Amino acid sequence: MERSLVLIKPDGVEKKVIGKIISLYEENGLNISNLKLMKADISIAKEHYSEHKGKPFFENLVNFITRSPLCAMILEGEDAIKRVRELNGSTNPLEAKEGTIRNLYGNSIRENCVHSSDSNESAEREINIWFK
Ligand code: CMP
Repeated sequence: MERSLVLIKPDGVEKKVIGKIISLYEENGLNISNLKLMKADISIAKEHYSEHKGKPFFENLVNFITRSPLCAMILEGEDAIKRVRELNGSTNPLEAKEGTIRNLYGNSIRENCVHSSDSNESAEREINIWFK
């Protein structure tokens, strides 16, 4: 059984599509083991995105993720990390397959609606950040 840390980012919460996104995960057999709505502060945002520190988009990414509440959750299931990433679609919504979450609800490469862990190692690191 694998775990993935998922964020429905501020753009998704503002668009009122939390329910639709969660339904997609649930209809695809993933289980929610923890979930909360919260406004991220700058320090948690910087910790979460620490691997991107120094990149040209880092500052704007932190500003975006902290601008209004987001929905953080832990999804569990067989092969959860890969399956959640397939449901999310490519980072750039313009390149995301039809029917994926980013294709349906993403605005741009930055405001791409959802985040999910990219490996078991990142899942454990990110779960410890958001669900201390
Ligand atoms: P996420 O899966 O949350 O992981 C890192 C995030 O950085 C990514 O989704 C995008 O929101 C953002 N990102 C990645 N590349 C760029 C880019 N070139 N310009 C702006 N934001 C980016």
